[in-house]
Formats: sequence, structure tokens, C-alpha cells
Amino acid sequence: MEKLVLGIDVGTSSIKSLAVNDRGNIIASASSPLTIQHAYPGYSEQNPDEWVSVTIETMNNVINDLKQIHSNFEINGISFSGQMHGLIVLDDEYKVIRPAILWNDTRSTAQCEEIKSRLGEIVLGNPVLEGFTLTKLMWLKQYEPDHWAKTKVFLLPKDYVRFKLTDTINMELSDASSTLLLDPSTNQWSEDVGRQFGITNIYPPLVTSDTHVGYLKQSIAENLGIKNRVAVFAGGGDNACGAIGAGVIQPNQSLCSIGTSGVILSCEAKQEAVYGNNIHMFKHAVNNLSYAMGVTLSAGYSLNWFKRHCAQNYSFDEIMSCAEQSKIGARGLIFAPYLTGERTPHGDANIRGSFIGLSGMHTFGDMARAVVEGITYSLYESIEYLRSQGKHINEVVAIGGGAKSDFWLQLQADVFNAKVYKLKHEEGPSMGAAMIAATGLEWYDDIASCVEQFIHKDKIFEPNKECHVAYQNYFEIYKDVYNQTQPITKKLLELTKKSKLN
Ligand code: XUL
Repeated sequence: MEKLVLGIDVGTSSIKSLAVNDRGNIIASASSPLTIQHAYPGYSEQNPDEWVSVTIETMNNVINDLKQIHSNFEINGISFSGQMHGLIVLDDEYKVIRPAILWNDTRSTAQCEEIKSRLGEIVLGNPVLEGFTLTKLMWLKQYEPDHWAKTKVFLLPKDYVRFKLTDTINMELSDASSTLLLDPSTNQWSEDVGRQFGITNIYPPLVTSDTHVGYLKQSIAENLGIKNRVAVFAGGGDNACGAIGAGVIQPNQSLCSIGTSGVILSCEAKQEAVYGNNIHMFKHAVNNLSYAMGVTLSAGYSLNWFKRHCAQNYSFDEIMSCAEQSKIGARGLIFAPYLTGERTPHGDANIRGSFIGLSGMHTFGDMARAVVEGITYSLYESIEYLRSQGKHINEVVAIGGGAKSDFWLQLQADVFNAKVYKLKHEEGPSMGAAMIAATGLEWYDDIASCVEQFIHKDKIFEPNKECHVAYQNYFEIYKDVYNQTQPITKKLLELTKKSKLN
């Protein structure tokens, strides 16, 4: 009998289910795309019930694949990873009241200003940014009072999916710490902060990521052809789960994850460390560990945008090989990846992207390289700042789209001036979720022993000092782009918003 766990990642562009056995071998996986609505500039919404149906679809696809491979298998546990911060509100029958307002929705700038004017720039260890859930709750209260009046409880994306699969309502700590409402010193909701803005009585119970919250609902299990009881464990935010799935679980171990957003994450033993420059401080999905994180809102999103509009007929591999044929600095071309604003270090929802230095001699390859370099420079800004605050970031494990190309991995090593590791079987946050389930089932004593068995490094990309110095020259100019373009892109944005109204 092959014993399996499922790790389910509720992402932004897709949902993925991964079946892993007790030795960490990937036996099957399936993913299906999600739709996303941008009704107005800065708005980003999804239908929470689509997450649920797509999750079940991917579970079904995995089980069908498993049936082809194995005559005898049993799914013993499930856990979840999910896009962070997104607001789901439920009424007193636990029905969804309105579409989810996602992490990359930036409509709540005025609410951020209100929080900052009352509580200052840092609230409960974090900068006040449009992405975070408190600002979305305040927007809802102000602009949709009918929906607000009906709100019985709020949840985050993977916690909603888990609720629909188990009938148990709770919110898991690594995600809850990203709402601006959790007190990091007590791991409890901060009544003070919520009360300041009239947000009371809608808080779900909190659980740690390894909590066994219940079992897969019988009706769903039956439809999937599962006969045994399947234990469900709480899981974690996608960045925490990505870190577990990359073996980044000790203080000072670091991760570079390039998905729709890009993050530089570095583990922290101190629960209440506070950094400036819009570095976030969240709880890890490993108990008693936190992490400092810088976020580039449009990382993989920038490359996807470039492919969609400039290179439809090229594969990502072809785009990468064109970029590789250009030179360090893309022959004097810089791309700022601010397509949907920026989080770290600038915390500015209204900044927009740019190509700087474009000339008639530039080729498609130069543009592609500028995009890849610009995303990497934006992530390097977080590393540079964290180093300036005394953190040692000399080794980074790479996951996500940025880890799929050896060219980009070497570029990360050269820009970051750090060793960059590629993993043998990189599955991203869904692997971290599967590992939470495997540890929850007591197949392993703790996450560290599970990492030892499940996660293996494949290649090391060593930084080339000469290349680093060459990149550093362009990086210094890149850092100027924000200040120089900020007033211009602000005016442009205002004009386009106005012309939309006319
Ligand atoms: C982290 C963040 C994103 C989402 C993407 O603060 O907003 O990385 O978690 O899924």
C-alpha cells in the first residue's frame, strides 16, 4: 500500500495538487488555471468558490493519474498553501458575500493613509501596505456598508478552501500574521488595532500550521472515490510553504521565489524583529520561527506581460536564450518592473514601470534581458537592504519561474553576489504543504527531519565577481529610476484615470 499526502497550493494564476509518498517522491501532480477580474485600475478579484471547484478538480485529476500508476494507494493527509492577504467575507450562513479582494489589489491607498496617520508607519511589526488585509476590511466597511453589515467572519484564501473541504472554520498563523491584525508577541488577534477601525467580532479562531483541523468531508471524499478518513492539516501562506518546500527553515537561510510576485525571504529566530524599507515580518509555518521578506509585486508577472505583448510566439526558453545573447546591462537598457506598483523597498501602489535608455540599436534580446535583469535588481534591493541591517545572505535557494533557467539562476548569483541553489525536484509551495501533512501524520518527528528526507539540492551557481561588479554599475542606475520616474508615472496614471471617467 503506497501511503500518500496531498499538498494543495491555492495560487493566483492556478491551483496545484501534488501527491507525495512517505519518502518524499512525487507520484502525481495536476494544476488548473484560475480566472482573475480587474474591473478597474488597481482592482484584482477572484471568486472564492472557483478556488474550491478548481481544487476539487485538481484533486480528482491527481487521483485519476494515481489510479493509472498504482493499484494500491491511500491518501492519508492533506494540507494547504495559499496566496496571502486576500480578503474573503462570509455571512452568518458562512456563504461568500462578495468576490475576494486579492493581495495585488491596490484600491486601499486612502485606508493605508488613515492607518498610518493614527498608528504610524509600522503596525504590529509590519509596514502599512495596500496588499494587507486590514486595509481591505476598512475599504469594505467604508464603500460597501451592506456587505460589511452582513459580515460574520473573514478568512484568507487557503483557509476558505480548507473550510469548504472540512466544514471547520479557522485561520492559520503564518497567513494571519500578514493581515496587520495579529500581535506577533502573543500570536493572538490584536484587539487594539482592530478596535481603532471598528473591526471587531469577525475574527476566526487561530491555529498553528501543523494543527490537525479535521477530516476531508465525506461527501467530497466519496465523489473523489476516497474510502478512508483523510486528515487535514492547516498549512501555511505560500511564501512560508515555498520556504519549507525549499528547505529554508533555519535562521538566516534565504529564499528567492519568482512566481507572479517575487520574494526574497530570510528566516528569523526573533519573533518581533522590525526592519524598515517596507520589509515585511511574518510568521513562518514552522513553529517559533519568523521571516523577513521583501516583495516585488510584478516579478513573473512582468515576464508574462512581456511574452504576451512582445513575444507571443516565443516559448519562455526561447525568450531566455535571446536574453542570454545580449550583454550584462542589456547594452544600456534598464527595465523597472513596476507594472502594478511596487512593495519593497518603495511601498508605492501608483508607481508604474518603464524601459529606460531605449535606442534604435536595441534588439528583442536586449529588451528580454532588461526585463529579467530589472526583476532581479528589484529583488536585490531587498537583499542589499537586509545585508545593510546585519543579515547574512550569502546563500539563496531559488524556486519558481526564476529557477527554471540556468541563465537566470547564474544571473541571480551574479547580481546578488551570493551562491544560488537549484533544487532537484522543485515543486514550490505545494511541496511545503505536502510536508506539513507528512509531519502532521507523524511520518516525521519535525519539519527538519522531513526536509532531510524530501529536499535535495541539485546545482550551485557561484557568483562571478567580475560580473557582479558589472551588474552593480547598472544596479546603481536602476535605483535612480524610481525617484526619477515617480512624478511622471504618477501624472500619467492620474490622466488615464481621468480619461476613463470622461
Ligand atoms: C506576499 C504576497 C505575495 C502573495 C502571492 O506578501 O503578497 O507573495 O502571497 O501569492
